[in-house]
Amino acid sequence: MAEPIILELKTCTLREWREGDEESLVQNANNKKIWDNVRDLFPYPYTRENAEWWIKEGCKKEGAFSLAIEVHGNAVGGIGFVFKEDIYRRTMEIGYWLGEEHWGKGIMTDAVQGITEYGFANFDVCRIYAGVFDTNIGSIRVLEKAGYQLEARLRKNITKNEQPVDELIYVMVR
Ligand SMILES: CC(C)(COP(=O)(O)OP(=O)(O)OC[C@H]1O[C@@H](n2cnc3c(N)ncnc32)[C@H](O)[C@@H]1OP(=O)(O)O)[C@@H](O)C(=O)NCCC(=O)NCCS
Repeated sequence: MAEPIILELKTCTLREWREGDEESLVQNANNKKIWDNVRDLFPYPYTRENAEWWIKEGCKKEGAFSLAIEVHGNAVGGIGFVFKEDIYRRTMEIGYWLGEEHWGKGIMTDAVQGITEYGFANFDVCRIYAGVFDTNIGSIRVLEKAGYQLEARLRKNITKNEQPVDELIYVMVR
């Protein structure tokens, strides 16, 4: 069996999702303020069934790499990559969310820095990018603090809550 992945960072630990995380996952993920800033694919309301599916199947989906953000022994957020294919095969997209109770403590800056370093060291990629709503000041700040650079504004690329939103592309290349 492969070694478990455990990234011990300053403010949190990144590790694989596991059975037993369901309750904390629902508690932290079931939040309209989170849903408003992520893809519609992320459930809202976020139910126990959604959490059970995520732990059993979702987090293990081929073509992606997903870790839990653990704080004080609980999985309170998620972070990961989606691997691009074909001519984009050396590119990954990063995505993340954190339970509201833990915002503003530097946790996501730490997590993005940690997983980015891990990503470049362990996957054959030369580009990691994030697509951020231009209204998401917190996430923009996280990416800038973690060393990502603004590359593009995709005007009205997103429709969220039936409203058009500009998407900012932040990137790190190696
Ligand atoms: C955006 C999010 C990931 C930020 O995580 P976090 O752990 O609170 O961020 P950090 O504590 O590392 O903050 C990094 C910086 O952003 C600032 N910041 C964080 N949230 C902010 C907000 N809502 N408004 C303004 N600044 C904010 C912090 O003050 C800090 O800057 P500073 O060091 O200059 O003071 C978190 O709020 C979240 O999960 N939101 C919902 C889901 C989401 O947006 N996911 C990302 C999709 S691209």
